Amino acid sequence: MNRQAIRRSFDRAAPRYDTAAALQRQVCELLLATLPDLAPANILDAGCGTGHALGLLGRRWPAARVVAADFAPGMLRVAGRRHPLVCADIEALPFAAAGFDLYWSSLAFQWCEPVRAVAEAARVLAPGGTLAVSSLGPGTLAELNAAFAGIDEHDHVLSFAAPATLAQACATAGLGDIGIEQRRLCLRHADLPTLLRGLKVIGANQISRPRRPGLLGRQAWRAIEARYEARRDDAGLPATYEVVLCTARKAIS
Ligand SMILES: C[S@@+](CC[C@H](N)C(=O)[O-])C[C@H]1O[C@@H](n2cnc3c(N)ncnc32)[C@H](O)[C@@H]1O
Repeated sequence: MNRQAIRRSFDRAAPRYDTAAALQRQVCELLLATLPDLAPANILDAGCGTGHALGLLGRRWPAARVVAADFAPGMLRVAGRRHPLVCADIEALPFAAAGFDLYWSSLAFQWCEPVRAVAEAARVLAPGGTLAVSSLGPGTLAELNAAFAGIDEHDHVLSFAAPATLAQACATAGLGDIGIEQRRLCLRHADLPTLLRGLKVIGANQISRPRRPGLLGRQAWRAIEARYEARRDDAGLPATYEVVLCTARKAIS
């Protein structure tokens, strides 16, 4: 993955991100619902984007100090100034060890190297602290993958790590009480160009890199659209997201 390209893509997407981030908001709610009763004093939202989770976390734990980090400055500008904001890579956090009781990260890990990101999470978590991470699993955008399969020699859709990879990264980082849940969410779109535009608006165009019709060839493009159209039902064209919800705890000693 080209990290600079990912960062630039999210940076550019920031002003319009919220208009197309319904899935991301839904996933934040699901992740929050997986958390047990906690009383964190210090929370980190790693890969905060435009800051949707900051409101959720602040409402659930009004007395907590919530710090937000993202490597795209444009995202931080939209997130506002109600919380401390830090422009940082979640694989190399600029925080001292053991400063947070809750490490939260929603839909950012699929852009990272999970072992490095979880190792950093474990480092900044205080003993007894909780990790809550959502990511995307291999079944994500399976319809798009199938439509592009074999069309040429290029990969057009990113592959997503299996949930076991995240669980293993937690174990490697020394975290315990590891819990993994999976949810399949299905969004509907009017047509394939609308689906691809939606991915671009949230900055996720690095997920799918279909070449422009001219580059791919008009015939190939028509074949891709026809394959995807074969999946249409009364609600539109389906796009499946396999959401992975992971929780873990850092031992007290
Ligand atoms: C799909 S958005 C999710 C944003 C937010 N958590 C939400 O739920 O709406 C992914 C975010 O992760 C950030 N991100 C991806 N990789 C990152 C990294 N290595 N370090 C910091 N931020 C990263 C992107 O800039 C983007 O804002």
